[in-house]
Amino acid sequence: MTSRIAVLASGGGSNLQAILDYFDQLGDRRAGTVALVASDRPASGALTRARAHGIASVALEDRTKTVGVPLGQALDEHRIDLVVLAGYLRLVPVDVVRRFEERLLNVHPALLPAFGGPGMYGLRVHQAVIDSGVRISGVTVHQVNEEFDRGAIIAQWPVPVLAGDDAQRLAARVLRVEHVLFPRIVNAVAAGRITAARPLMLPSHGDHPTFSLSRDEGCLVADVERLVNG
Ligand code: GRF
Repeated sequence: MTSRIAVLASGGGSNLQAILDYFDQLGDRRAGTVALVASDRPASGALTRARAHGIASVALEDRTKTVGVPLGQALDEHRIDLVVLAGYLRLVPVDVVRRFEERLLNVHPALLPAFGGPGMYGLRVHQAVIDSGVRISGVTVHQVNEEFDRGAIIAQWPVPVLAGDDAQRLAARVLRVEHVLFPRIVNAVAAGRITAARPLMLPSHGDHPTFSLSRDEGCLVADVERLVNG
C-alpha cells in the first residue's frame, strides 16, 4: 500500500510540482501518493497547483484562529502517513511533531546545520552563504522537530558556489538540485529505504557529486538515483 503524503508549502510550490512529476513518472512503482496540500497562505501557488491536479487542498488556521483548519485536524481528516514540508515557513505544532516523528521531512536550501534556523529562508540563506565565503552550498533533507532546521539529517547533496554568484544565481542552482533530490528522498522514505538511522551516503570515491552539475541534467538525475535507489 502506498503512503498518503501531505505536502505543506507557503510559496509557489515548485518542490511540490517536482514531487508530483516524479510520482507520475514512477507510476505504479511510486511508494506514496500526495493526498493533501496545506498552506498557511491561502493565496499560495502550491494550493493552486494542488487544485489543478485534483488534490485536496486546505488553508491552515492562522494566528487569529478565526479562519482555516488546524494542521493536526487536516492530517487526521485525510489519513496522512507522511508529512513533507516544501518551502513551509511556519513551525510545526509540537503535537504534530510528536505524532509523526520520523515521518515528517523538510527540505532546506543549504548544508545544515550551517545557514539554518529562525529567519533563514529564501534568498537570505543564499546571501548568508555568499557573505560567509564558503565555496560549497547544497541541499539538506532532514526530519522535523520542534526547532527550525534542527532535526536529524537524512540526505545532503553539495552544490558549488561559483565566482560571480549572487543570491539569485546560487538559489536557482540549488533549487535545481532540490527538484531532483527531494522527490526521490520522499519516495525512498515512504518506501522505508531511507531513515535517520539509514541516511543517504555520498560516495567516498569516484566522481564527486558536485561534478554532475557541470554536466547535463541527466547526469545529476542518474547520480542521485544511483545513490538513493541503489
Ligand atoms: C526552496 O528553496 C525550499 O528549499 C525553501 O523554499 C523554496 C521553496 O520553493 N525552503 P517552492 O515553494 O517549492 O517553489
